[in-house]
Amino acid sequence: MALYSEKVMDHFRNPRNVGVIENPDGVGEVGNPVCGDIMKIYLKIDNDIITDVKFETFGCGSAIASSSMATEMIKGKPISEALKVTNKAVTEALDGLPPHKLHCSVLAEEAIRKALQDYYERNGLDYDHSQFPDCESCGHCHGA
Ligand code: FES
Repeated sequence: MALYSEKVMDHFRNPRNVGVIENPDGVGEVGNPVCGDIMKIYLKIDNDIITDVKFETFGCGSAIASSSMATEMIKGKPISEALKVTNKAVTEALDGLPPHKLHCSVLAEEAIRKALQDYYERNGLDYDHSQFPDCESCGHCHGA
């Protein structure tokens, strides 16, 4: 069996939503200290709907494929739906990632959450802080 699914290869070779949004409503940047990869997600939000999303990922092929898939999964969706996009959901949508590459999809989940948190903060909106665990309490990246 091939190491990477066709979907992973497709999103790696033809990533969707690559780029930058000028004047974004929220930006989330996360990095994995172990592999050194960095992912940045830009959001445009109108009336609780993610009307546009772009990403820049300086990282491995799985991280690029995860960002591409994750942005497709949240585009046009309400914030509440975007908050449900877990790394597991991204991995499943990609028809799987090799076990040692699962952490790459974690970056996508974290970058989306960080961008949404940034949106809340910028607009002085109330939000449920428990939905956005800080780095110390997470530990995701340490398993890379
Ligand atoms: Fe670091 Fe993929 S190897 S995100």
